[in-house]
Parts: sequence; structure tokens; C-alpha cells
Amino acid sequence: MMLINKNSLSVEMKGIKIIKKNANKLRTRLIKEKQLCTSYKVHSDDEYVYMPLITEYDEKFINSLLDEFNVNVDDYEFKHAQYRPTNFLDFLDDKISEEEMEEIRKSFDVIGDIVILEIPPELEDKKKVIGEAALKFTKRRSVYYKKSKIQGVTRTRKLEFLAGVDDLETIHKEFGIRFKLNPSTVYFSPRLATERSRIVDEVKEGEVIIDFFAGIGSFPISIAHVKDAKIYGVDINSEAIKYMHDNIKLNKLVGEVIPIEGDINNVIDELPLADRIIMNLPGTAKDFLEIAINHLKCGGILNYYEFSSDYNSVIERVENLAGNRKTTVLDIRKVKSQSPGVWHFGLSIKIE
Ligand SMILES: C[S@@+](CC[C@H](N)C(=O)[O-])C[C@H]1O[C@@H](n2cnc3c(N)ncnc32)[C@H](O)[C@@H]1O
Repeated sequence: MMLINKNSLSVEMKGIKIIKKNANKLRTRLIKEKQLCTSYKVHSDDEYVYMPLITEYDEKFINSLLDEFNVNVDDYEFKHAQYRPTNFLDFLDDKISEEEMEEIRKSFDVIGDIVILEIPPELEDKKKVIGEAALKFTKRRSVYYKKSKIQGVTRTRKLEFLAGVDDLETIHKEFGIRFKLNPSTVYFSPRLATERSRIVDEVKEGEVIIDFFAGIGSFPISIAHVKDAKIYGVDINSEAIKYMHDNIKLNKLVGEVIPIEGDINNVIDELPLADRIIMNLPGTAKDFLEIAINHLKCGGILNYYEFSSDYNSVIERVENLAGNRKTTVLDIRKVKSQSPGVWHFGLSIKIE
């Protein structure tokens, strides 16, 4: 039986005590047969080394080792190798109820070394305690909470400092790429990582791509990191363009990313026709569909995003606007939940 002492974070469990000079040999054998419990620390005193065994160890194998090394299995105290509470509540004890915590947990985002939380109005007075707990729990540098919804043309939100170091600039790592950004002045969502990787997989070498709403360059840089494509990243937010330039320098790219500051309506005529257009502005991308379709080469692909409750309306909107041009839906997917019953849909559609 394993006795947990939560305060000292150590447990009494089955282990082997062995004289130091033979310890390495035994440890190698235990690791090879997956019998060493790696959640707890091997420790030693002047003469002996103590090794924790997995709960359901292989008795036959262990008995053979006991004979060979002339040792015994007994109960010893072991400390947790890396105590990382899986539950935020471990740091809040009785300060906040489990239901309240669940609300916060759902909103938890980590961007680089910054944690961003949502705090419901009824928990405003406990925000500092929650911030400190999040800091300890995540071991990140700073904790902020969402002071507003994502708003305005730049799709940014106000963040209020809660704990740690008050510095909003950070570098977020994703699939070997580094994105520098300030989450209060530019849009960035770590929850779109899978979507970015899906688009990267769709892209063929040599494509000419326009990202209509490129932000800090999350899609263009993800693509250019592994594909020899030429991507024009347009954004109306000068801060986003500044970070796109930084991110081009921060990453080793095989393709080319060209940042362009401006309203896509005003810059589109200066850009070449594209093999692919990316439109991740799900609330209002539909207003730009016509110029996108007109700017696609024959057989080009549109990566179109829209908030909707059903995927048929998303497809129909694009098909209707494509008019006589033949369309082929390559894929339609729920990228993430937006609100109850409403999804952030991603449509990949080929337009002849
Ligand atoms: C939802 S964010 C997406 C950013 C980026 N694609 C990403 O996924 O990380 C939409 C971006 O579109 C930009 N934007 C909004 N209206 C625009 C327009 N008319 N022309 C160019 N960019 C625009 C905003 O500044 C914002 O950075």
C-alpha cells in the first residue's frame, strides 16, 4: 500500500535498498524492464541507494534481481520527482469552490510565458488569490485576466495584470516556431495551433498565397517554416505588422513572407492572383469573400473561416458568391467552439 503524506509530498512505498557500488547496475536493469517508478525520486544516504518500484511490479523479475544482487524489497519513503498539481485547487485550498474553479479553468490560455484567465464578475474580489495560484500552478512569468471581450477591427482585448511580472511581450513556441507578440495589442490564439498545422499540410511547394488577415503572421510563418511558398501577409494593425517582421527574423524560413500593412480592400489590387487565400476573420470574413474569389487563380483554394451554427450555410455562402465558377469542397471542420451552439468553422474550398 502507498501512504501519501501530502504536506511533505513524500510517500511510503515499495522499493529496493542497495549498496552504492551496485546501484547503477540495478537501476539500469529496473529501467530497462520498466520496473522503476519514475514519478518518485531515487535517493541515497552515505552507504545505500533507495529505488522506488512501480506499484504492480513484476514479482518474478524482481525476485530474480533480489537473488542476483542479494537485496530485499521493503517499504521506504520516496519524494515525488516533480510535484505538479493537476488541479488548480491544490493551490487555492478552501478559498474558492470547485464549481467556481471550473469556470476559470475553461478559459485558461497560456501564450509564451503569460497566462490569461477569465474571471467571472462574482469572483472579482478573489482575482489576486486566483492570479497568484495560477502563477504557482503554471510556473509561468505573468498572469493577466481578460478585462474585455475581443473587440474592434484589430480583434484585441484589454488585459489586466494579476500576478508575477507585469510585462505583456512574450515569445510563444509552437511546433518549433517562435511567435513574438503582445496579446493586448495584437490577435493571437494558441488554440488555433492544430488549424495552422492543417493548413500547412494543405499547401503545395511554390504556391503564391495571400493571408487577408494575417495578424502577427501565424499562418504565413507556419507555412514558410516548412514550405517553399511566397506568402503575402496583410493586416490593418501596425503592431501586428511590426511583430510579423520580428517573427520573420526570429524563425528560419524556407519560404518567403511579405508583410503588408493596410486594409485588404485597399491593397488587394497591388497583389498578384493567388493559389490560396486565407481568411481567418470569422466574424466578418464574409464581407471580403467577393474580392477573395475574384483574386484567386483558376483552381485556387480558399481557406475561409466563419462563425456559424451549421456548416451548410458556410458552404452555400461561398458557392453562391462563386457564381458560375465550379467549386469543390475539400474539407469543412469545426475549428473550435465559439459560444453555445455556434462554431468557428474552417472551410477549404477549391474554385475553378
Ligand atoms: C482574428 S485575427 C486573425 C489573425 C491571424 N490570422 C491569426 O489567426 O492569428 C484578424 C486580423 O485581421 C485584421 N484585420 C481586420 N480587418 C482587416 C482588414 N480590413 N484588412 C486587413 N486586416 C484586417 C486584424 O487586425 C486582425 O489582426
